[in-house]
Amino acid sequence: MRKSTIIIDKDYEIADVDSRLFGSFIEHLGRAVYGGIYQPENISSDESGFRQDVLELVKELQVSVVRYPGGNFVSNYFWEDGVGPINQRHPRLDLAWKTIEPNIFGLGEFVNWAKMAGADIMMAVNLGTRGVADACNLLEYCNFPSGTKYSDLRKAYGIEEPYGIKLWCLGNEMDGEWQLGRRTMEEYGRISAEAGKAMKLIDPSIELVSCGSSSKGMPTFPEWDAVTLEENYDYVDYLSLHQYYGNENNDSNDYLAKSDDMDDFIHTVVSVCDYVQAKKRSRKKMYLSFDEWNVWFHSKAEEENITNRHPWQMAPHLLEDHYTFEDALMVGLMLITLLNHADRVKIACLAQLVNVIAPIMAEDGGVWRQTIYYPFLHASLYGRGTVIKTVVNTPVHMTNSHGEVNDVVCSAVYLKEREELTIFVVNRNLSEDQELILDVRSFGKLEFLEKLVLISDSLKKENSLNNESIKPLKDFNVNMDKQKVKTVLKKASWNVIRLKKEAKEMRGKNSA
Ligand code: AHR
Repeated sequence: MRKSTIIIDKDYEIADVDSRLFGSFIEHLGRAVYGGIYQPENISSDESGFRQDVLELVKELQVSVVRYPGGNFVSNYFWEDGVGPINQRHPRLDLAWKTIEPNIFGLGEFVNWAKMAGADIMMAVNLGTRGVADACNLLEYCNFPSGTKYSDLRKAYGIEEPYGIKLWCLGNEMDGEWQLGRRTMEEYGRISAEAGKAMKLIDPSIELVSCGSSSKGMPTFPEWDAVTLEENYDYVDYLSLHQYYGNENNDSNDYLAKSDDMDDFIHTVVSVCDYVQAKKRSRKKMYLSFDEWNVWFHSKAEEENITNRHPWQMAPHLLEDHYTFEDALMVGLMLITLLNHADRVKIACLAQLVNVIAPIMAEDGGVWRQTIYYPFLHASLYGRGTVIKTVVNTPVHMTNSHGEVNDVVCSAVYLKEREELTIFVVNRNLSEDQELILDVRSFGKLEFLEKLVLISDSLKKENSLNNESIKPLKDFNVNMDKQKVKTVLKKASWNVIRLKKEAKEMRGKNSA
């Protein structure tokens, strides 16, 4: 059997994990809002029309922050359409997805929903077809207490207290040819600097995210990131990254190596940020917001069919990827990559949350968890602590486009208050199991809490409303021996190994 060892020394801390790493995204797109989080006619919905079965799963995932209202949608977003009495609102053409936006669910409804979900809001402004003034008006409506045009409008609509939204995106994917109101890097640098400057005058407590390249594959990457940051560096706090992966060539070996590409992407963006910081002689460090990441490829043909052949529907089935078991492994690998960069990546949004490339699916008859739900759940529950550097000794295997890659990929998170160590591990060798030795001697005596695994007899297995067969199992086949943990990682598996300081040791420490 192949063998891997992982050494984890508790003194080699990378960084504390920002809880906003477990964020997600709701866009006015397809059935994310209508038929997703909001569906008054559904049996599970409350008096506001919010589906309680969906909310239960969102809460189970402990989603920390939700980006809204787009995405591509935001680049022609007219927030005023979705505030005030619902019976006075009008539908509008959504040019991003060629659908009809009814404006029944708007800003205030989203704020109420996010409160119920226990999540903060990451709000985006339209820097595509609108600009600085509109961004200021929206911020004034949301965060200014009273006595001005837009704060008083909010109060007139019965919302006395400001929303106090702290996190704002300055547009979306402004480098993309598909983006309404796309800008050149010089144009975006200027408008984002001016919007940022003005917005921070209105509310200096907010944090701003500048649009980085919309993927590593953009021809203007990484120049876009450098040029725009040079212009807006003093006004923004984060640079965004977006990346989706897929198994378009049906080459699973190659597919699962793509998380190494995400790792490279983050390294390059960190270098760009540090280059601009040095060039500007600035004391300020720029952090990263990976505010769109996921697997997205299953639904591409259907998307083309709806947006181009059958446009102007309301809430059509768009971007409804049904995820396979191997997609769950990929999402796990991406989570591990994000955790290992916790020193610079402070915000990350799994795109998206419900129905649209989502971990949660809502149908008229109920909700169900996609395969990718589980790695996110595990990381969100057990990944909030301090990331510890791992030294990994593992065999490699050959891939078609990424050369030799490691079999075993992992991240370790220590929760100091609870003295719990969690190791997230993927064995991305698809044909062989792996004996794993975890060397955790620096932690003193640890006891085994549990090992959770996602395994499957087929990489292509999916879940559905009536069959959630891909779900975590407990693996008891773990031996603890003198601060070494021995276990077997099944071929193609997601593993969560949870250890805790031994109770005797903890008692000794407390009574000392
Ligand atoms: O998440 C789906 C879309 O992907 C978003 O609207 C856009 O920002 C990205 O291209």
